[in-house]
Amino acid sequence: MTQQQVFRIHQDDDGHRAGVEAVAIVQPTQGEVLVRVSASGVNYKDALAGTGKGKVIKRFPITGGIDAAGIVEQSEHPCWKPGDAVIATGFGMAFDHDGGYAETLCVPGDWLAPTPQGLDPRQAMILGTAGFTAGLAVHRLLVNGQHPGLGPILVTGASGGVGSIAINILAKLDFEVVAVSNKQALHDWLTQLGASRIIGRDELPGGDRPLEKAVWGGAVDNVGGAMLAQITRTLAPNGNIASIGLAGGTALETTVMPFILRGIGLLGCNSVDVPFPLRADLWRRLATDWRPSDLDALVSDQVDLDGLPAVFERMLAGKTHGRILVMPA
Ligand SMILES: NC(=O)c1ccc[n+]([C@@H]2O[C@H](COP(=O)([O-])OP(=O)(O)OC[C@H]3O[C@@H](n4cnc5c(N)ncnc54)[C@H](OP(=O)(O)O)[C@@H]3O)[C@@H](O)[C@H]2O)c1
Repeated sequence: MTQQQVFRIHQDDDGHRAGVEAVAIVQPTQGEVLVRVSASGVNYKDALAGTGKGKVIKRFPITGGIDAAGIVEQSEHPCWKPGDAVIATGFGMAFDHDGGYAETLCVPGDWLAPTPQGLDPRQAMILGTAGFTAGLAVHRLLVNGQHPGLGPILVTGASGGVGSIAINILAKLDFEVVAVSNKQALHDWLTQLGASRIIGRDELPGGDRPLEKAVWGGAVDNVGGAMLAQITRTLAPNGNIASIGLAGGTALETTVMPFILRGIGLLGCNSVDVPFPLRADLWRRLATDWRPSDLDALVSDQVDLDGLPAVFERMLAGKTHGRILVMPA
């Protein structure tokens, strides 16, 4: 049986351990597709999974990597044929099914989206789950009536994968984007991506009354916790918050006042199981009118499978920025 190198995560009586090892290449059964992986990326969830610091995996051992892009090698699914360029994000990847940190990926064909024209697999993974989620957040905001006239949009966790891409898309759509970032050294980079202003995490205006002066038209929040609560108190009437992440905590202490007196919308964003038509449409938009102006400017690092543990530690310590690509050695 042919073997492949994968980044495997174990959790058993000996504790948590993860690293590169050889496993057999799985053959697709009915409904499944075997993809030759060209590129993958590092997302916050990958770092939680790979270090064991977050309980985000259901089945052990498992191959890590919540996203991948590549070319179909074998297909037992009616929608895909050998040679198709595809993107896999979310669903059971690196949760209860082997993920994309591998040479090949065998997944249900229903989990795949076509790689849109204009993106090669590497470019698709510069966007990856982070870019797809940023696109989902923008979609949710626009559907809920967000427009530049409501006021500036705040993007928290701005230097991260989701944050940096959200800044770029929103600036393209003529929003005034205010980035929240603690990374002074990246202010020029965030400005080049489209931020008109950058503020530190402890510089968010407003006190702790249920409603404070409205300063933001909307927000894309990657941080959660106290920062999200603060944003609910300072949003303009009818503004929306796309809630994506938990880098700063999972608790949310607020009141109903912003919702019932200012009509603000708290829009949950779950990139994991977006149904097919919307999934394909978001990828198409990310390759066309929402395409970041300079994809390579989003990349801060590139590693092979052996380089993953060090990157995971740096990411959880808040020492990474932008997108980190995972390419074959
Ligand atoms: N809902 C979904 O489907 C979905 C999909 C993808 C990601 N996510 C979540 O979205 C968040 C961002 O993901 P990502 O891949 O962009 O991660 P990332 O690249 O690590 O970015 C996270 C950013 O958050 C900021 N941050 C880190 N620790 C913080 C803290 N303790 N308090 C406040 N800010 C902090 C940092 O930005 P600054 O240094 O610039 O402040 C960091 O760059 C994560 O929580 C992730 O789990 C959710």
